[in-house]
Amino acid sequence: MKPAVAALLLQLAAFPLTLASVYLLASAGLPMSYLVVAIVQGAIAAGLTWWRALASWWRAIQLLFPLALLGTAQLAIPPAVFLAIFLFLLLLYWSTYRTQVPYYPSSRRVWDAVAGLLPPSGPVRVIDIGSGLGGLVLDLQARRPGVEASGIELAPLPWFISRMRALAAGSRARFMRGDYERLDFSRFDVIFAYLSPAAMPALWRKAARELRPGAILLSYEFGIDDRVPNRTVYPTEGGPALHIWHF
Ligand SMILES: C[S@@+](CC[C@H](N)C(=O)[O-])C[C@H]1O[C@@H](n2cnc3c(N)ncnc32)[C@H](O)[C@@H]1O
Repeated sequence: MKPAVAALLLQLAAFPLTLASVYLLASAGLPMSYLVVAIVQGAIAAGLTWWRALASWWRAIQLLFPLALLGTAQLAIPPAVFLAIFLFLLLLYWSTYRTQVPYYPSSRRVWDAVAGLLPPSGPVRVIDIGSGLGGLVLDLQARRPGVEASGIELAPLPWFISRMRALAAGSRARFMRGDYERLDFSRFDVIFAYLSPAAMPALWRKAARELRPGAILLSYEFGIDDRVPNRTVYPTEGGPALHIWHF
């Protein structure tokens, strides 16, 4: 089960225990308030999360979640604004609860490094798997008009923005909306990934199965256990590594 789904179920499971605890505490004469209920709910959910051995940061999230709910309720945000914010976040993050890869952009220094690693000539097909707002793909296409630069993105809003950016710039960069796990990697010479540690083992298995000899896999920031890269470069001084595997 995905950790976010497990965390939600544990919050739900904590609720009857919270009700029972609050009833006992009130019977013992403790003054009750929504704040006390939120603290008890958070503490029980965090305890269940520890018991189910979710990653340690989930305990803090579970503890603070009911307090955050309570605090947000106090703000009395109009429902329409709440809905708009919810829809914006939904379209931006989409299936992050499943992929465990949220949106955060790479920087121009990373794009410089990737451009420098592309084969110098020939019809290079390069793809950013999880292309976000499309910055890397548009940059590579502009620098190297001869390459076929594309991106694939699961979340609707970043994908839409990258399409609009390509249209506005008159770029021939292609942006597909979809799941890179369903993409045939053998169609590409260079695959760039900026994902998360959770995604790396499955990415390696897919790359090993599908990439053709001579293809290159690049991963910014996140390595793959037991798979030593052929090369590592550091786009920014003291910053994360760009790992390079040759197939
Ligand atoms: C850390 S961001 C990197 C964005 C972009 N590559 C960059 O360098 O700026 C990761 C992106 O991958 C997308 N993503 C996560 N899992 C995906 C999947 N299975 N298929 C396609 N996109 C995915 C997320 O929606 C997010 O926009």
